[in-house]
Amino acid sequence: MNKNDIAQSASTLAARLGPAPDIAVLLGSGWGPFAEQVQGAVDVPYAELPAFPALGVGGHKGLVRAGTVGTRRVAVLAGRKHAYETGEATGMLGAIRTLAAWGVKLLLQTNAAGSMDATMRPGELMLISDHINLVQRSPLIGEPGDGRFCDMSDAYTPALRQQARAAAAAVGTQLHEGIYAWVLGPQFETPAEIRMFQAFGAQAVGMSTVPETIIARHAGMKVLALSMMTNMAAGMEKETLSHAHTLATANAASERAVATLAAVVQSLEL
Ligand code: HPA
Repeated sequence: MNKNDIAQSASTLAARLGPAPDIAVLLGSGWGPFAEQVQGAVDVPYAELPAFPALGVGGHKGLVRAGTVGTRRVAVLAGRKHAYETGEATGMLGAIRTLAAWGVKLLLQTNAAGSMDATMRPGELMLISDHINLVQRSPLIGEPGDGRFCDMSDAYTPALRQQARAAAAAVGTQLHEGIYAWVLGPQFETPAEIRMFQAFGAQAVGMSTVPETIIARHAGMKVLALSMMTNMAAGMEKETLSHAHTLATANAASERAVATLAAVVQSLEL
């Protein structure tokens, strides 16, 4: 992936989808049905965008969809490359830089996560207030220039979080807020690890989002992120963790999550 790939991908998006919307929504596990909320949808598959990743995990469509939700124009990215697939944190580097080059201002991320807070139950949603990069891997390794030393305070724009909280309240969704700890995976955590992350002050744990936040902040975009709790983290309850269990909880919770996301998308003032 290089600058030409990004420029070419951005011009393909502009040619096929028109001017960039202000908001791009990156859909994680459980959030896929949001793509069906988009009216007047026009799709461009990742395969036609040289800066975008080839996706490994089944069930991920890999497409950029532009259209409207209510009166708000959005782009939706269905499909994320995870660091656990390659060990690299750069899987979404080209895709997110393409969004920035196209003119998108806000990356609104969604994901599935394990809850480390006994009062935050499976199916419930958490607005990410901050993150902990436990993996200590960066998508900016090798990046030239002083821009690489980018500030990560207020990575998740406080004013937009405030608006998201109000939008969720208006549609009657309980929205937790807390800190997301990024683990590499793909294995789930041990109970001892979860106790350590709790002691570090994190409320949710997951295998995505943090690299994309770093890429977007470095590219000058704002970031907002919503986590869907698909399980209580390892050792907190008796259940055995599995991907199938994660997906089943995500499917059961997706209707409310999608309605909340639609409300948030429509309410944001950038
Ligand atoms: N741990 C890590 N990632 C996750 C989890 C979890 O418990 N649930 C969903 N994604």
